[in-house]
This record gives sequence, C-alpha cells and structure tokens, in this order.
Amino acid sequence: MINQQVRLASRPTGQVTQDNFTINETDVVDPGPGQILVRNMFMSVDPYMRGRMNDVKSYIPPFQIGEVLQAGVVGEVVASNFRGIAERDHVVGMLGWENFSISDGRLLRKLPRSKAPLSWHLGILGMPGMTAYVGLMKIAAAKPGDNVFVTAAAGAVGSVVGQLARIHGCRVAGTAGTDRKVALLRKEFGYDAAFNYKASKSLTASIKKVCPSGIDVLFENVGGEIFEAALWNMRDHGRIALCGMIADYNAAEPQPGPRGMMLMVGRRLTMRGFIVTDHPDAGEEYIAKAIGWVADGKLVYRETIAVGIENAARAFIDMLQGGNTGKQLVRLS
Ligand SMILES: NC(=O)c1ccc[n+]([C@@H]2O[C@H](COP(=O)([O-])OP(=O)(O)OC[C@H]3O[C@@H](n4cnc5c(N)ncnc54)[C@H](OP(=O)(O)O)[C@@H]3O)[C@@H](O)[C@H]2O)c1
Repeated sequence: MINQQVRLASRPTGQVTQDNFTINETDVVDPGPGQILVRNMFMSVDPYMRGRMNDVKSYIPPFQIGEVLQAGVVGEVVASNFRGIAERDHVVGMLGWENFSISDGRLLRKLPRSKAPLSWHLGILGMPGMTAYVGLMKIAAAKPGDNVFVTAAAGAVGSVVGQLARIHGCRVAGTAGTDRKVALLRKEFGYDAAFNYKASKSLTASIKKVCPSGIDVLFENVGGEIFEAALWNMRDHGRIALCGMIADYNAAEPQPGPRGMMLMVGRRLTMRGFIVTDHPDAGEEYIAKAIGWVADGKLVYRETIAVGIENAARAFIDMLQGGNTGKQLVRLS
C-alpha cells in the first residue's frame, strides 16, 4: 500500500499558495510495539495551521520545512499493537495530513459506536464545537438575555456559537462574508440578525443596526477592522472572548491593534483570550450536551468537504479566504 503525505515545502510570506505544499509517496509500514496503524478517513482543515506554517514560538510548535502537516483526523484502525484499541475501531486525534498514520496512541481517542457521522467528531462533536462552548459559556460567561455578537459567524466555530447562544436564551447577531452565508445565519444557525461585512460601508454602523442595544458578549474570531468596530458597540461591563484573529493570519507583518482601547476603561470591559485545549473538562461537558441537542434538532451542522489528499492544500487556501460554510474537511477515499 502507498501512503501519500502533504508536507510543508516552504513558509508562506503573506497569502498561502500551493507552492508552500508538496505531496510525496511512501510505503505504508507495519506498526511497531505499542503502535497503531490508522487509515485516515477525514482530515480537519483549520485556521490555526496557518500560524504553524510560520517559524514563531506559540502555544503549539511550528511545522518544520519538509515535515508532514498535522491536524485533527478521524480514521479506522488497520492494525494495532496498542492495548484498548483494536483493528476496525474508529479513532480521532492529531495525526498527519496523509492517507495512513502510525500513532503511539498518545494523541488518539477511540470513538464510541454511534449514529453520528464520523466527520462530526472533527466539527460539531469535536474541537470547533468545544471552542464555541468554552468561549461563550466559560470565557465570556454568557447569561440569558445577553446580546451576543459573533464574527466569522458562518464558519465551524461561529455557526455553533450562534446556536448555543440561542439555546442559552441570548439574542445573537453575527457577520459573514457572503449574502448566502448571511441568509444561512438567519435561517439555520439561530442568528436573530446578521450582515455581510464585505458589503458594509461602515462596520460600526452595520453592527449597531444588528445589535441596536449594544453588545454584552463579543465572540471574536476575526480581529482587524471588524473587531475595532465591535468595540465601539460594546455595552458597559461587556465581555470579549478572543477566540481567533483570522484577518491577520496571512499578514506578512503583525498588524496594529484596534484603536479606541480607552473604551475598555470607560465601559469597564473584560477581554480574555483562550485556547480550547486548556479546558478539557468544559469540552467534555459540551460533547455530552451536544449529543442531546443534535438528537433534538436544536443544533444543526454544515460541512464543506474537499475530496482527495491532492485537494487538501487548495481546501486550506480556500478556507482562509472564506470558501467554506461550516466546517472545512478533506475526505480521503
Ligand atoms: N482559541 C481556540 O482554541 C480556537 C479553536 C478553534 C478555532 N479558533 C479560531 O476561531 C476562528 C474560526 O475558526 P474556524 O475553524 O471556525 O474557521 P471557519 O470560521 O470555519 O473558517 C474561517 C472563516 O474566516 C472568515 N475569514 C477569513 N478571513 C477573514 C477576514 N479577513 N475577515 C473576516 N472574516 C474572515 C471566512 O469566512 P467569511 O466568508 O465570513 O469571510 C472563513 O470561512 C479562527 O480565528 C480560528 O483561529 C480558535
């Protein structure tokens, strides 16, 4: 059997291009003592991988040039010398962007047999769903009646934040980059109001229109101009969960922060960044609840799926430019 692997060919300067990736072929090897061989079925495509392409110290080490990219993966066990995981088990964990991975089991979790599609464990029943829950409920401590505003609202995390806010009794508004996404926010993802930031003449005015009473909880995925405009719409004692800053990920140089930071003082705002993996208990709490919400139809889910490892780099580049609705994945045949 042949294994195709996506490796980092070069570090991007600014926008990511296909030239930053290379695909090689290698033989599939048998697992050694204590190891597992996994046939990968779905690979996650995540914004934070862009940060790992830069040679900078962060909460997760950078990819090295020539290295196989790593991401969340769901797969089926082909052979196992690891106690507790057997052939044909389904597993989820951090593995390579490749058709087959060898794992020592440390970053792998066996999936229970369930009716949920396997890919959901990389989205609504996985890291993005947990991120939405941790940011909204633990970091921003959303309360029923709060006015919540979400950026990148139609993506993997944002589409869940809107629905969780609605379930929790909040009023929720958001922004996304196409009219089709904005319609989905209203019709499917529980948003009370939404607008297309690319069509907005004044972001501050557009946010005011969808949040007429101001924002109690800002769930920030984007940064840049949208973040600055949202700051001007914060209510006194508002809370900001800093989840991500995707507007800056492709910038060749770090961008200046938002203007108007004196608002933090005058309006007594609280702003806190977070990384979902620091909150494993809250993540588990979310999964237990999400299974019920999905079964009851309270939580709906969208995926954008590219097919074949040769399309993984393209899917990543497209996701960074808004090509996805809901969770971006790659399905391996
Ligand atoms: N803190 C954590 O632990 C954690 C965990 C997971 C994710 N995150 C962060 O959460 C955010 C969302 O991640 P995700 O996985 O759910 O990705 P996603 O929202 O599914 O995909 C990224 C989306 O960002 C939007 N975007 C890209 N460039 C933009 C720009 N310049 N201005 C405004 N929007 C832009 C695009 O949608 P439009 O069409 O709307 O532009 C794109 O579809 C990211 O910032 C990510 O880094 C953080």
